[in-house]
Amino acid sequence: MDIFVIKGGVPLSGSCRASGAKNAVLPEMAAALLADGPVEIVGVPALRDISTFGKLLGILGAEVTRGPDATGRETLRIVPVPASTAEAPYDLVKTMRASVLVLGPLLARYGRARISLPGGCAIGARPIDQHLKGLELLGAKTSLAEGYIEATADRLTGAPVRFDVKTVTGTENLMMAATLAEGTTVLSNAAHEPEVCDLARLLRRMGADIEGDGTDEIVVRGVRSLRGTRHEVMADRIEAATLLVAGAITGGDVTVEGADPSRMGAVLDKLRESGAEVTGTPGGVRVTRTGPIRSVNVKTAPYPGFPTDMQAQFMAYMCLGDGFSIISETIFENRFMHVAELRRMGAQIDVSGNTAAVKGVPKLSGAPLMATDLRASASLVLAGLAASGTTEVLRIYHLDRGYDTLESKLRYLGADIARVKE
Ligand code: EPZ
Repeated sequence: MDIFVIKGGVPLSGSCRASGAKNAVLPEMAAALLADGPVEIVGVPALRDISTFGKLLGILGAEVTRGPDATGRETLRIVPVPASTAEAPYDLVKTMRASVLVLGPLLARYGRARISLPGGCAIGARPIDQHLKGLELLGAKTSLAEGYIEATADRLTGAPVRFDVKTVTGTENLMMAATLAEGTTVLSNAAHEPEVCDLARLLRRMGADIEGDGTDEIVVRGVRSLRGTRHEVMADRIEAATLLVAGAITGGDVTVEGADPSRMGAVLDKLRESGAEVTGTPGGVRVTRTGPIRSVNVKTAPYPGFPTDMQAQFMAYMCLGDGFSIISETIFENRFMHVAELRRMGAQIDVSGNTAAVKGVPKLSGAPLMATDLRASASLVLAGLAASGTTEVLRIYHLDRGYDTLESKLRYLGADIARVKE
């Protein structure tokens, strides 16, 4: 297994480009199952989750190839064929919960699906009750047998669906299922995340009739079929925010090309509040920090609130704040795995329930650390960049799920970081 070796204390400077958004590509790959022709997704990052999802689509009968398009941009080409088996096997689903995203498309297109019920994961139980409730309201019959969800539907029928909680993939699953249902579906209390909107843009290009994405209420009018198309995926706002925090935590000057400030408001506001200077550039966002890090409070919330996927990274930054920072995680019940590792570097953090009290310290010291989940791994890398001495981050495969060659981007910005075989 690979590890990162980081020699901290180097202020990062320069500019790099954000990759395509993992959490937009995954639902868009599932959406390809709905099409009568090839779907091409342009600007796809090289991530483990994306290759895993490609394997899943292959098992479901689709042909998935990837490579540079005429302009050299990495492109996924998905040609759906009538599913030889509409089953997502446990050994795949257990490694990637996003597999549940094939449920809606398989039901809408083929009238049946057998998906391993995703187990919990490091950050929480992550049930899919809202996905199943919504699909049943559209007429699907679901049952659970041997750890698999079996779902069937002659033809889905549009219906009103109100989510009990804001769920990103729940909204995406139902939006996809509704595109081929008979009649109109209204999704209330829908998730507003930009990735939901990017998926809606793809579905409209395929011929779907969708309005209201990005608001609490999404209206989908069913159509008979959807066609293949070509779609350029949005930039990854979480990767971009992670790189900007890398600039701030090291007291550097970092520009991320392709970052869209209109989709990162909550994080950019907190960076400004912490004393960093945040400015828009013609094609991205620039962060510089010269003065002290001011401790600020953070509470995660559904979009457009502060994203839970940035909580761990921002906590690393607050470990070096000039006072107390209260960080509340309201989305997942166990997303503080980075705390124990940060403490090993000298951070002073007290956790009570879903709230962490971070008392800023003048410096962190490098140490050998263990990555546990995707965003916790990023948090440890950021802390290592700012710490004095050497930090080793083990189990980097967690990071490779959601960051495309992060060490290359950081090295390009001046970081002393290397990936070595353990
Ligand atoms: C998506 O996960 C993202 N993954 C996550 O990113 C992200 O952290 C999360 O949204 C929140 O923004 C993808 O888009 C592939 P949810 P998702 O359904 O859809 C509860 C990363 O780091 N809930 O919005 O699985 C759930 O337990 C990953 O890139 C139910 O109770 O999250 C959680 O507490 C991690 N029942 C809350 O809702 C359901 O049926 C939000 O979960 C569904 C969800």
